[in-house]
Amino acid sequence: MNQPNPKPREQWGTRMGLILAMAANAVGLGNFLRFPVQCANNGGGAFMIPYFVAFILLGIPLMWIEWGIGRFGGKYGHGTTPGMFHYLWKHPLAKYVGAIGLMIPFALVIYYNYIVSWTLAYSVFSFTGKYSNILNFQGMADFLAAYQGKVSNSYFPSVATAFLFFCITHFCMMWIVSHGVSKGIEQLAKIAMPLIIIFGVLLLLRVLFLGTPDPKFPANNIANGFGFIWNPDFSMLKQSKVWLAATGQIFFTLSVGFGAIQTYASYLKPKDDVVLSGLATCATNEFCEVILGGSIAIPVTVAFFGLASTQAIAAGGAFDLGFFALPVIFQKMAMGGLFGTIWFFLLFLAGITSSVAMAQPMMAFLQEEFKMTRKTSAWILGTMTFFFTLPVIFFLKHGFLNEIDFWIGTFGLVVFAIIEVILFIWVFGGENAWTEINSGADIRLPKFVLPIMKYVTLAYLVILMIFWFIQDGWNVLTMKGVTAVDYPYIWFARFMLVGIGACMVFLVRIAWQKRHVIQQRVPQ
Ligand code: ALA
Repeated sequence: MNQPNPKPREQWGTRMGLILAMAANAVGLGNFLRFPVQCANNGGGAFMIPYFVAFILLGIPLMWIEWGIGRFGGKYGHGTTPGMFHYLWKHPLAKYVGAIGLMIPFALVIYYNYIVSWTLAYSVFSFTGKYSNILNFQGMADFLAAYQGKVSNSYFPSVATAFLFFCITHFCMMWIVSHGVSKGIEQLAKIAMPLIIIFGVLLLLRVLFLGTPDPKFPANNIANGFGFIWNPDFSMLKQSKVWLAATGQIFFTLSVGFGAIQTYASYLKPKDDVVLSGLATCATNEFCEVILGGSIAIPVTVAFFGLASTQAIAAGGAFDLGFFALPVIFQKMAMGGLFGTIWFFLLFLAGITSSVAMAQPMMAFLQEEFKMTRKTSAWILGTMTFFFTLPVIFFLKHGFLNEIDFWIGTFGLVVFAIIEVILFIWVFGGENAWTEINSGADIRLPKFVLPIMKYVTLAYLVILMIFWFIQDGWNVLTMKGVTAVDYPYIWFARFMLVGIGACMVFLVRIAWQKRHVIQQRVPQ
């Protein structure tokens, strides 16, 4: 039972392909939309202190832990955490705990991919000039609200257009995963990652040469834009919310705690390096986040609308900036339609490569634990995720998406990361984990990294969890601020999540029962 599975599994075609796929997994909407807004709202340059502390003490160690767990599980023929945890912690409950690593990416993909579909739609709208006569934020806000089905106006009488773009995006995602790891995901990453970087650099250059777009407002210039995002306000560091925001951003942007990195790492060969490759993934993500993401949305908004307006827009949330402000700005630029198309297509590429990574754990689970073909698995997964996204689309205005995002995209990631550290470093054992991570490594990790993983990362996560719960969790749990109209929808979102979790546990149970029957039939 403990022998590595000799059955050949899918593998990455090339090392470069693997690193690009891992980077594409991490680089997403978080880098270009979420990061600049978090930074601007939480102390500008000062935000980078808690951000880099979290990056070094949580992000990189968790990246290595997840790569290590994934490659370890792959040796036993398991691409998902139920099977991986089963071998890390030889306890009957381990596989059910691992079901959390199926639930999280599944629940993430049902709302994340819907947001990705907006970027595809906006790329098309920029190209066709659908919003070209809207020249102010309120107009763009109304445009987005109607697109999302929150209101109805002459642009979008219903949510039908959004639904259509969701169907196209959903089909793209499933089409890619149905082609497998090296022929689908790796090929996409090899095209998408260079394009993301080329488009990002192109937009960055355009932004750098903006100067002072309107000489009547000399303070609204690109230098002040960079100043706004990067000038440190150290007084903000006294606020725990800034530390929480920075840590949340690290989780989201690196895709740690998602259950998706483990699946990608399971397709490594047993002696493939994880240390340098994991580090390369982190570095690529940070380049896209800090250099590209930090230089586009916020500075350009300041240059066109000034500090006060940018602050107000950033306070409205990540999407306000990306979907309200930038389209208006592009209208005011020469060749704005083209830059708008590039901006939203960049977001689409960054998003779809992350969606694919979130879909892959369930694909791997169906293929490996239920011995389904890739095609059948893709059909089942495609149908399931399609139906689960419907309430996200139709109940968006009732806070359905935000509710799922909190429990999965914020709370769930931290809980799952705590479980991983405990199982890998404490239960499987620090020495075993250390040997596993360093096996085949191109660079050896200094010894002090192990105690960081063992004590600092874990303590950091637990303290974070406690603060998070006090600051946000309690209010969300007790539905503070939820209106009577939205109440049933929030409950529905919670029941749906509990249902998804129960479903995953049930699937794990059936898979293990089937395996048991097969093992009994095979003469030992
Ligand atoms: N890591 C992905 C992002 O940043 C999910 O959007």
